[in-house]
This record gives sequence, C-alpha cells and structure tokens, in this order.
Amino acid sequence: MPDNPPDLKPPTRFEDLRGILRYVPQFRQRVFVIAIDGALMHQPGFGSLLQDVAVLQSLNIEVVLVFGARAQIQRLAARRGVALSNDDGMGRTDAATLDIAIEAITRQASELMADLTALEMPVVVSNALAVHPAGVIDGVDQEFTGRIERVDVESLGALLKADIIPVLPPLGYDGRGTTLRLNSDAVAVEVAIALKAAKVIFVSEAGLSAPDGARMAQISVAEAREMHRRRDPRHDINLLSKLRHAAIACQEGVPRVHIVDGTQDEALLAELFSNEGVGTMIHADDYQQMRKARSSDVSTLLSMMRQSMEDAALVPRTREQMLARIKDFFVLEVDGNPVGCAAVHTHEEEGRRIAELACLFVRRSHKNRGHGRRLVAYAEEVARQRGCAALVALSTQAFRFFEEKMGFQVTGPESLPRARREQYARSGRNSKVLVKLL
Ligand SMILES: CC(C)(COP(=O)(O)OP(=O)(O)OC[C@H]1O[C@@H](n2cnc3c(N)ncnc32)[C@H](O)[C@@H]1OP(=O)(O)O)[C@@H](O)C(=O)NCCC(=O)NCCS
Repeated sequence: MPDNPPDLKPPTRFEDLRGILRYVPQFRQRVFVIAIDGALMHQPGFGSLLQDVAVLQSLNIEVVLVFGARAQIQRLAARRGVALSNDDGMGRTDAATLDIAIEAITRQASELMADLTALEMPVVVSNALAVHPAGVIDGVDQEFTGRIERVDVESLGALLKADIIPVLPPLGYDGRGTTLRLNSDAVAVEVAIALKAAKVIFVSEAGLSAPDGARMAQISVAEAREMHRRRDPRHDINLLSKLRHAAIACQEGVPRVHIVDGTQDEALLAELFSNEGVGTMIHADDYQQMRKARSSDVSTLLSMMRQSMEDAALVPRTREQMLARIKDFFVLEVDGNPVGCAAVHTHEEEGRRIAELACLFVRRSHKNRGHGRRLVAYAEEVARQRGCAALVALSTQAFRFFEEKMGFQVTGPESLPRARREQYARSGRNSKVLVKLL
C-alpha cells in the first residue's frame, strides 16, 4: 500500500502530465457516480471539490451526483428541538424526522444547484428512483424510510448524453405520493449498478486507515465486507455504511469503488489520476495483470527505470536495445499502468537451454507489495515453458532478494552460458550470479 504522503501539487513536469492524461481515454464516456457527504458542503474546500467535478465533466466523464444529509438534518433537528428517529436513512424514519429531512435536503439541493450553476455546469435534480416503503424490519415498522425498487435508466441516460449532471437527493417518492427518506450510499450504489457505472466515489468526511494509522490504498470486496461485519471500531458508522455499499456495488458489477477523504484538498482528482491514489479503492476483480511488453511501452519503462540505471542497480539500456529484444519483456500493470517489468532471455548451449532473468524492476511507489516476487515467479514459469533447465540472474544490489525471497543460490560466473560469461567479464559490474534450477 502506498503510505507516502501524496504529492498533490499541480503537475509541473510533462512526465506528470503524461501520467495524468494516460487515464483520460479509459474514463471517457464512462459513468462516475460521486456521492458527497453532507458535512462537506459547509466546509471551505467544497467549492474546489465542485470545481474538480467540473474538470471530470470537461474530460467527457458522465457524472452523477448524490449527496448525503446527515449533518444538515442533525443541525436542523437541534435548532427545532426535534428528537430524530434516525439521521442517516438507515433506520426508522418517523413523521417528525421526515419533515426535518425534507426541509434540510430540499435546501441542500437548492444550494447545490446554485453552486453548480455558478460553475456553469448544467444540472437537474432528478427523481429517477422508484421507491417503496422499507416496511417492517425485525419487527419494527420503518414508517417513512424507503427502499429503492428501480432506477429510471432512460431518463438519467438522456441527461448524461446531453451533458447535464443529474443530482439525486436522498429522498424518493412512491406511487401513492408519499415522500420517503433514503440512505445516500444506497442511492449512489443503486444508480451506479443500474447505469453500469465505471466507478462510485464516496467523498467522505474521513478516509479509511489501517491499524497502524496508515491509509488503506486498496481493499478487496471480501475485506470490505469483513470490516463492515465486525464493525471495525476504527471506523464510524458512516464509513462502515460505505464499506457495506461498496461491497454490494462491486458484487453487482461496478468494477471500482473509491472512498476519499473530502477534507483533503484535491482528493478527488488525486485519487483518480495518480497511480497511487490518496483514498481507498475497493475492487471486485484482480486489477493487476501481467502482459507482454509492447514497443509503445519502452519510453515509459525507460523513464520508470532511469534512477535504478543511474544507481547501477540495473544495467543501462538504450531504447534501441530494448526494442530489439522487446519480445522477451513483460510488464506488470496496475489499473492499466505499468508498475514493474522484467525480461527472460533464452540461451542455447550444447543442447542445453538456459534462461536469464534480466531487467527486473518495480516502481518505488509500488515496492513491498509482492510485485517483485510476482514478476520473478512469472519469469520462472516463462522459462519452464520454454523448456529451460535453469533460470540465472545477475544482480548487484538485489541478490539477497533473489536468495531469500525466491530460492536462488549464489554461484559463480561459470554457471552462465559461455556468450554471457565473456560479456560479464567485460562489463566490470562484478554482479553476483544467481541460479535457480527449474
Ligand atoms: C528488487 C525489487 C524488484 C523488489 O521488488 P518488490 O516489489 O519490492 O518486492 P516484493 O514486494 O515482492 O518483496 C519485498 C521483500 O523483498 C525484500 N527486498 C526488496 N529488495 C531487496 C533487496 N535489494 N535486497 C534484499 N531484500 C530486498 C524486501 O525487504 C521485502 O522483504 P519482506 O517481505 O520480508 O518485508 C525492487 O526493489 C527493485 O525494482 N529494485 C531496483 C532494481 C533492482 O535492483 N532490480 C534487480 C535487478 S536484477
């Protein structure tokens, strides 16, 4: 998990800009459902958050906005001296609570419309949800709490196609003209499932953290479900609800759900447009993949490895040298971006085939997450499939890694194929020679 404090400054180098632009084609014309906690709407950074939403829309991302209202409902109830039956749309909503909720939410919707209009974003408050009363749960009549039955995909789709942002408040109306209170996390997830959204992004009052206080950069659906099940004491009910709904969304086909701390400046964009992110991503599938390198990867790989080449951890390679042997290279991608690579070269000698693992590299931001081991294990498999008896590696600075983590043994240059032995002597690098029998 990336624990380093993220660099949230605007990109100053073309390399950074290139990194950001890489995401744009995969996000274009995809639906992102952004659910904002009500508490954030009165914070100083809220204007910038809406500007970030405008940036997403300008990149042709189809944005649906959902907002929560707990903070506003609590505040209004306190002012009026009303005791709430619940404040987040997850428990029973009595008539007095519904009254407060309608007033608070309607005001919020109006304020949001004003803010978005000021940013020249076309926006419509939508009633695209068909809801029913939640009914009796565990013997308790939920009264004015609603359950989402259906999402009007056509009307939302038409708004999105016309570049209009649909805003969905946590209220719904049933066929009898009754207003019902909804939970905003549930609204976001139901809408995302129905629209086959690429992402749900919960912009929350706080982020998720591990027991040591570090940010949890990614968790699987199973982990999210487990944290919710055991009511993880580090996280309040608000975050637990998001974990539960994130798991539902992923289970129903939304590939990624993000939880970002909305009090952090630029959190939304930094989560979406940086490799490491700044929030927590909950993913349904294994979003890492190993693939063959392509010629178009060479520039990215070279720029990624530059420092290690300068430090002599890796043999310096030119673009031409890499292109000439591109077929031997493979790349480990995380979320569509290369984070590591390696190559397997094959040598034939006296009827024996020996594989050489070269150019093993993992991006600094992604170290210590098992990617190095994964790349070496993959190289071993490639070598086995090519009928090689052994895999050798030359290493100046990572020989312990090969020995301790991957079961290689340090030997001498005599284990190298003859052609490589001469090169080895000439290079003067004095690398350790490691071998693993396959
Ligand atoms: C070596 C390298 C590929 C490891 O990648 P990684 O993704 O961090 O590795 P993993 O997450 O699979 O393994 C991490 C473990 O290996 C250990 N490790 C990583 N690099 C090490 C090194 N150079 N020496 C000794 N141990 C090392 C870590 O301490 C960690 O140990 P732990 O699991 O007990 O905590 C990466 O550090 C790298 O790219 N280094 C620079 C380039 C290089 O030296 N390449 C080898 C050229 S042959």
